[in-house]
Amino acid sequence: MAAPGRILTFPDFRDSRGDLIVFEPPTVPFDVRRVYILRGAPEGSSRGGHAHRELRQLIVAAEGAFTVWLENGDSSSIFRLSSPSQGLLIEAMTWRELREFTPGAVAVVLASEIYDEADYIRDHETYLRQVRGDI
Ligand code: TYD
Repeated sequence: MAAPGRILTFPDFRDSRGDLIVFEPPTVPFDVRRVYILRGAPEGSSRGGHAHRELRQLIVAAEGAFTVWLENGDSSSIFRLSSPSQGLLIEAMTWRELREFTPGAVAVVLASEIYDEADYIRDHETYLRQVRGDI
């Protein structure tokens, strides 16, 4: 299994008025059914700490920076996201943790499905057993 997570680059139209960054197919490789933002993360906090059974996501640091730690049962990866034109693609059955947010950091998350708590695996031991095919 390849190491989890892949950085995708999006067009950035930059001029004297500011930056405009576009997220659309085919660079976004799934139909977007939900968008949410994470902001106001206090220093030292972490988010995530779960995997999704089906959901695919694209995480973008729209402002500031944060670290995403990924694991797929075989290997792990660490990405420091700090550019709004670079998104991290996270496939289904990937454990993720977001931490080391800079003050004012804003994460924009594009998701392939609407919210469904049944799609979450929140227990790490259960996740490892499932991703390794033990259960
Ligand atoms: P959660 O996914 O647990 O956050 P994190 O990614 O940091 O683990 O979500 C936090 C709360 O927000 C939880 O009560 C579920 C709710 N929520 C929704 O209702 N809809 C959503 O699309 C998301 C992402 C979360």
